[in-house]
Formats: sequence, structure tokens, C-alpha cells
Amino acid sequence: MTRIAVLGSTNMDLVAYTERAPRLGETVTGREFRTVPGGKGANQAVAAARAGGDVLMIGAVGDDAYGGLLRDNLEHSGVDTDLLHTAEGPSGTAHIVVDSAGANAIVVIPGANATVTALGPGEIAAIAGAGLLLLQLELPLSAVVEGARTARAQGVRTILTPSPVQPLPAELLDCVDLLVPNEHEAAELSGFADPWAAADHLLGRVPVVVITLGAKGCLYAARGTEPVLFPAPEVTAVDTTGAGDTFVGTLAVALAEHRPVPEALAWAAAAAALCVQRPGASASMPYRTEIEAA
Ligand code: RIB
Repeated sequence: MTRIAVLGSTNMDLVAYTERAPRLGETVTGREFRTVPGGKGANQAVAAARAGGDVLMIGAVGDDAYGGLLRDNLEHSGVDTDLLHTAEGPSGTAHIVVDSAGANAIVVIPGANATVTALGPGEIAAIAGAGLLLLQLELPLSAVVEGARTARAQGVRTILTPSPVQPLPAELLDCVDLLVPNEHEAAELSGFADPWAAADHLLGRVPVVVITLGAKGCLYAARGTEPVLFPAPEVTAVDTTGAGDTFVGTLAVALAEHRPVPEALAWAAAAAALCVQRPGASASMPYRTEIEAA
């Protein structure tokens, strides 16, 4: 089976569920609080493992109480954590408000994730031995770039989720095979609010772009072909946290299994639709049998 390496963050998500998010300076009363393992890297790893992938996580947790819980959560989903280091100090945390429509706002405090500034020989060998590398932007950019360059040098396919969005250096984008922004990130990176125009612009920098559009589905664009809009299943969202990560993790498994693009995107969309109907990031990610049934 093709191995999927994830170089990314682990966070404990501290989630407040409320009718609507407070404005600056305002206090609102919420209805529920949950502590759920998250982090864009760990979420993608869990999603991929539950979808049936052979997954390895590279990153760091803290030596606090959250660190053990975050590691356990990955292992329970079948993710190899041999290269998930334990750093001195707190684990990453994400402070999340989810409103009654399931939309969220997030503040991430990197904690241990910030210690992953460079890769050691073990990490480099693990990426070189994988078939796919999943990257996001919650680790220091130096490590993300090193991971992408290692993958490119070894012929390993790289998928980048550009979140939290920031300007992307050419040395990173030159090594990316597939870019998966949401529509806000695509607009920020391209300067075009319209996803078709954004995709067209981004294709000047990477060969394939998939822009996730939430309930509207996703826009698939590859150099030399017409972009195609793939619809998402119609569902009622209770919490969209981790939906994009579920999409990417599941898509990676489908690509590792050499499924055709339309089937891979339909599979990823089905997994994301299952994720938004349940609360929490990694806790809401579906298993392969559920995706197949959907
Ligand atoms: O993409 C969702 C994730 O973003 C959350 O789990 C949170 O940890 C933040 O990293």
C-alpha cells in the first residue's frame, strides 16, 4: 500500500458552541464546551487512516497532559506516530467558536508545533519512502519547505493545504503537485474572489488546484483542461471544523489507490459531508465503511 506521510500540526481544540460568534468587545453565552483533538496535520492524518490509508505523522506534541491525548488519538485511528516528537512545553491549542450554522472562527496557539523548524534524517527518510506527502501551514515554514523539497527530490507527490493562509514562496510552490485551498484562501493567494479566476491564476504556479467551496462542492482545475465543478452532497452542517482536512486526507487515500479524479473527489466530498454532520474535528471523521456507504 502507498504510504502517506503527513508533516503537520497537532492541536487540542477547545471548542465553544454558541448561537452566534461574539463581536470584538462583546460577551455571549454559549451552550456547550468540548475538548477535541485537532490540528490540520493530525486531522488529515486521522482522516486518511480512517479512510483506509497507511499513514505516518511527522510533528510534535508538548509534554503537557494534552500531548499524550493527542498522540493516543492518532494511534487509535491507526496512524504511525514514531516520528511524532514530544517537545518540552505546551502542546498546540486551537480556540474555536462554532455558531448555530456550524461555521467556525479559530485562533491557534502553536505550542510544540513551533519547535518543528527543520527535519532530521529520520523524517527525511520517511518522506523519501512515502508515496504522498501532505502539508499544511501550521508548522514553521522552514520545515514545510524542507519537506516539500525532500519530496520533490525523491519523486514523492505533494499536496499542500495553504492554511492558515500566508504568502507562499516560489521554493515551496515549485514543489507542490496539488494545491487545495478553500475559496477564501484561493482569493487571498490569487487576488481573485471568483474561484474560476482564482484557479486560473493559481495554475500559473502549480499544476493542479482543487478549491473547496463548502456546501457548493469543489472546483477541480488542472493545466491544459477546462475546470470542473463537482457538487457536494446536501447535508445539514452542525460543525464544519476539520471538513477541509477530512476532504484532503480522504482524497489522498483515493489518489494513493489510483482512483480516477472524479471518483476520488466524490469520495472526499462524501467524507467531508459526513464530518460536518457531527461535532468536533478528528472526532467527526468517518471510517472507510461509512464513506463507501455514503
Ligand atoms: O482545520 C481545522 C483545524 O484547524 C482545527 O482542528 C484546529 O486545530 C486548527 O488547526
